[in-house]
Amino acid sequence: MRGKSVLLIIGGGIAAYKSLALIRRIKERGATVRAILTAAGAEFVTPLSVASLSGEKVFQDLFSLTDEAEMGHIQLSRSADLVVVAPATADLMAKLANGLANDLASTALLATDKPVLMAPAMNVRMWNHAATQRNLATLKQDGVLFVGPNDGDMACGEFGPGRMAEPLEIAGTIENFFASNGGALSGLKALVTAGPTQEPLDPVRFIANRSSGKQGYAIADALARAGAETTLVSGPVEIVAPSGVKLLKVTTAREMLAACESALPADVAVCTAAVADWRPEIAANNKIKKEKGAATPVLRLVENPDILATLAGHARRPGLLIGFAAETENVVEQAVAKRLRKGCDWIVANDVSPATGIMGGDRNTVHVVTASGVEDWPELDKREVGARLAAKIAVALKGAA
Ligand code: C5P
Repeated sequence: MRGKSVLLIIGGGIAAYKSLALIRRIKERGATVRAILTAAGAEFVTPLSVASLSGEKVFQDLFSLTDEAEMGHIQLSRSADLVVVAPATADLMAKLANGLANDLASTALLATDKPVLMAPAMNVRMWNHAATQRNLATLKQDGVLFVGPNDGDMACGEFGPGRMAEPLEIAGTIENFFASNGGALSGLKALVTAGPTQEPLDPVRFIANRSSGKQGYAIADALARAGAETTLVSGPVEIVAPSGVKLLKVTTAREMLAACESALPADVAVCTAAVADWRPEIAANNKIKKEKGAATPVLRLVENPDILATLAGHARRPGLLIGFAAETENVVEQAVAKRLRKGCDWIVANDVSPATGIMGGDRNTVHVVTASGVEDWPELDKREVGARLAAKIAVALKGAA
């Protein structure tokens, strides 16, 4: 969504505080945000916060002489590629459903020629009220898009549908919107492996590693946002799958390989999973008992399939095959050698020594090793690494970011 612009209308509700985070989530995906803050919205967040985060002037008043001189409200309503209403209050929904226009937000909504996405937020009874549901049906019929509301505890102490969708979910929906309207990877198939594998010793014990899956999930998310039909093959992790991604959950390396093969053919595969190199030779059917006087058990390990190397030699080899290399020393040299050894096209290398905090953390410093050399990327949020990698993949596959 680089280069796209969003007009964000912030309505008056406690969920307005989440709109501040939403501005950041939209901006870090490369789009610009211009905001209209309703009078009620300004009771919850300040124009200064909105202006600081968006980096743009905030529009509040329909009859502002200076605003009208700079940009008329009709022009403002059409200045963006997408209008997002978050929080969309019962009042804003009712106004648009009935064509009312008595303030800047409602006037812009009526005057725009751009698609509108609403993220409703209100008390559960207000949401369930026949009038709101009628307005919802009318708005949907008029082509307004919706994200949420979600079920959960509400600020008013009640429980049920009415919570505004989380900023990441709204940002994801916005990305989906732009992606399905011409994403850089639309029409292509992507496969991503992520997380650790667990290799059982018996029904309750297993060998695993500290992989959080965050980087792989961020890459799958970015590829899907760029319009690729994305399959994410994931070992056991604690994070939720990105929307718009086909998730195949696996436990062991052998299951991961089978799931990957089932997802072929693919135009691009990114193997971020921290696959266990070995598994116990025997996985006992019953829990191994500690018996008095018995010898301490000895673990015999056997090698697991190397999924990346298998894909590299596969009859249906993905067009672009990318591996990861988590190392604790000589990161780049090892990655250069690994690219050749594994037969993949690129290796994304990172230093996972405990001092870096990369394993399980939110940030990553990577080096991208290709046939033509090494690119050193700065320290970035893992989502940003995902977005940049998706852009680089788009250039490699389609010649466009
Ligand atoms: O050999 P090493 O584990 O360092 O290689 C890392 C790369 O290989 C990663 O892309 C990882 O996902 C992949 N890999 C794999 N199957 C294995 C071991 C590693 O796909 N059994």
